[in-house]
Amino acid sequence: MQRIGLLTSGGDASGMNSSIRAVVRKAIYHGLEVIGIRRGYSGFIEADMGPMNLGSVADIIGRGGTILHTARSERFKTKEGRALAMENIQRFGIQGLVVIGGDGSFTGASILHQEYGIPMIGVPGTIDNDIAGTDYTIGFDTAVNTVVDAINKIRDTATSHERTFVIEVMGRNSGNIALAAGLAGGAESILIPEIPFNIEEICQKLLRGIKRGKLHSIILVAEGAASGIDIGRQVKEQIGFDTKVTILGHLQRGGTPTAFDRILAARLGAKAVELLMAGETNKMVGIKAGEIVATDLTEVIGKPSPINKNMYELAKILSI
Ligand code: F6P
Repeated sequence: MQRIGLLTSGGDASGMNSSIRAVVRKAIYHGLEVIGIRRGYSGFIEADMGPMNLGSVADIIGRGGTILHTARSERFKTKEGRALAMENIQRFGIQGLVVIGGDGSFTGASILHQEYGIPMIGVPGTIDNDIAGTDYTIGFDTAVNTVVDAINKIRDTATSHERTFVIEVMGRNSGNIALAAGLAGGAESILIPEIPFNIEEICQKLLRGIKRGKLHSIILVAEGAASGIDIGRQVKEQIGFDTKVTILGHLQRGGTPTAFDRILAARLGAKAVELLMAGETNKMVGIKAGEIVATDLTEVIGKPSPINKNMYELAKILSI
């Protein structure tokens, strides 16, 4: 293998740049050339790509987002779109692919592999941490720390005014951010899409808290479980609490990556290059019990990792 292609696709996540840097530098170290593809699979279709060198990844290790930009390409989902992409892959002499992204991104590359035999390795990058085959995805730790920081700040004002706050966090299909940040930030209730909730119980808990002298309460809601605004309205309607709502939104996707995410990104990016050089394909690199591993994409795609129920129960016990 002489030349590899590199792209980021799907929702961005902090640490993607650290991973881009690792892939490029590791590949160059081994004498490979790297073509960077811009805006995910759209860049393939539009031939928006070019060579990367040691300098193109200078000074990005601590920057959020992705210098390659990202997109969710509808055109790539069609046979005609993929044929165009493949033409450009051949035109640029790309012999293997590293795709940094989530489930949808791996699906795209895997179909391309099935149709045209181009080797590919996936690197899990998403703030949701919901990908099978890895204990952590790049960007999750940074997003959780951002949410915990927000909880700390909101708690200050919540205590001063003796208020209840609802904080809505990201996670359309996954409660991992809410769960981890809720446990770390001591939220009174954590609402996630994987586990049904009962608004009466939440309100009873709020009332019990006030009775025993609590000065504030924080309800953390993953966007896939409910809308924060709805929960705030329902609490107000049921028990009359002056409930404020904060939606953290896309600020959870940006910011400088934590050391954990940078180290993870470096290790996974480097491993992806090693696998391509060893002739592997259709695999995703991941971290399991501290070790870097590779998992076949058939065990990853369409099989989101379940939430940690023990952690959920613990968060409940500790916020009694
Ligand atoms: O998959 C990552 C994620 O950030 C989800 O948590 C969130 O629901 C979704 O992306 C938002 O996507 P978009 O930026 O396209 O609105």
